[in-house]
Amino acid sequence: MTLFRGHVIDTPTSPFTGGTLRSHDDCGLLVRQGVITARGPFEAVRCEHPDEPVLDLREGLLLPGMVDTHVHFPQVRVIGGLGLPLLDWLERYALPEEMRLADGDYSRGVARDFVAGLVDAGTTTALVFGAHYAPAVDSMFEAADQWGLRVTTGLVTSDRLLPEPLLTTGERAYAESLDLATRWHGKGRLRYAVTPRFSLSASEAVLEACAATLSEVPGSWFTSHVNENPHEIREVAALFDGASYVDTYDRFGLVTPRSVLAHDVHPTDAELATLAERGAAVAHCPTSNAALGSGLFPLRRHVEAGVRVGLGSDVGAGTGFSLFKEGLQAYFVQQLLGPAGLPLTSAHLLWLCTAAGADALGLGEEVGDLSVGKQFDALWLLPEAGDPLAVGLANAASPDDALSKVFALGTTSDVGGVWVGGDQIASGRWRLPLHP
Ligand code: GUN
Ligand code: ZN
Repeated sequence: MTLFRGHVIDTPTSPFTGGTLRSHDDCGLLVRQGVITARGPFEAVRCEHPDEPVLDLREGLLLPGMVDTHVHFPQVRVIGGLGLPLLDWLERYALPEEMRLADGDYSRGVARDFVAGLVDAGTTTALVFGAHYAPAVDSMFEAADQWGLRVTTGLVTSDRLLPEPLLTTGERAYAESLDLATRWHGKGRLRYAVTPRFSLSASEAVLEACAATLSEVPGSWFTSHVNENPHEIREVAALFDGASYVDTYDRFGLVTPRSVLAHDVHPTDAELATLAERGAAVAHCPTSNAALGSGLFPLRRHVEAGVRVGLGSDVGAGTGFSLFKEGLQAYFVQQLLGPAGLPLTSAHLLWLCTAAGADALGLGEEVGDLSVGKQFDALWLLPEAGDPLAVGLANAASPDDALSKVFALGTTSDVGGVWVGGDQIASGRWRLPLHP
């Protein structure tokens, strides 16, 4: 058991439905076997539990662990390929690298780099877009398991329009996915995600195999891409007899409360209605959308339609692992949309980075904020004395203001410690022994 002491900020209820920031500046969180069992003013919790060891984190801020709802593990080494729209970027940067993951040693190294990137950014839960090769997906599961991260991932499947080494068949996709799910789904904090790359590269055979896998593996997740780029959307419609992009998944029963579709920059109202009706979630990937010139995400239309939205870094089209940067970019985009935009406060940004993602991944009962009963998944922000964030926090007028400064100025090097289920997995500048 440990009694954590710090300035805790979280968003237990959605600011999109009236929730506000919860900030307790000398908060005690008692953690037993990974779960928060008591919370209150530090002195009060201390009185009740005088013998528990105290971890004093009063310098800096303690936030819930970040939840990344869309991030590609095979693309960690191609972050920063700028200047191209989606399909050209895939051809030039992403797909050549993804073919290298056919090599086991290479894919193990990539999985290690990737997981280190998540941990470094304070991301404790992620829906990870996998690789086209089953052994590479094994490497991803292994790396996530070693670090104890909450990762949902799976085999990426495609049977057309990609380079031949990345293609499979419906039959093989089904067999390999089931084999991976049998070995990993439900092991520790891991879960399986059925993952056709996008309906542009997935014929009916692959989408049918996805539906079969999803129903064979109870509690498995579904993820793919949707409505990212106007040219891509036209190509998809041509391949599916003019169907809408959401419909290409929905007609196979792939749009459910356990589905997360990435991007959705250009949805029709009918598609938003379908997503809302099915209870599916969208992963908003702001730096990726800007880097590829995909467009300005219509957050207001999603919220008004009742579609759940989380944030995704979309590494490697996105420009890094930090969800603070994604939050800031999400804010910029809504500003740029003018009257069509949804003005975001720092509370909205924290919600999008944490509880909204947990909800999108069906983990809202376990993680997303630091309430009693939740897992202690947390990120300790500890900016170096004198750096702009430290100066900003020291001069913040209110908790909302402090959090705005975190989004404006925070980087991965401000992360001083990360815990998942009560276990510390990164120590940052704290220099405690790193695990593993
Ligand atoms: N659509 C299909 N594959 C990808 C990918 O790797 N990245 C992004 N941003 N969009 C995609
Ligand atoms: Zn993506």
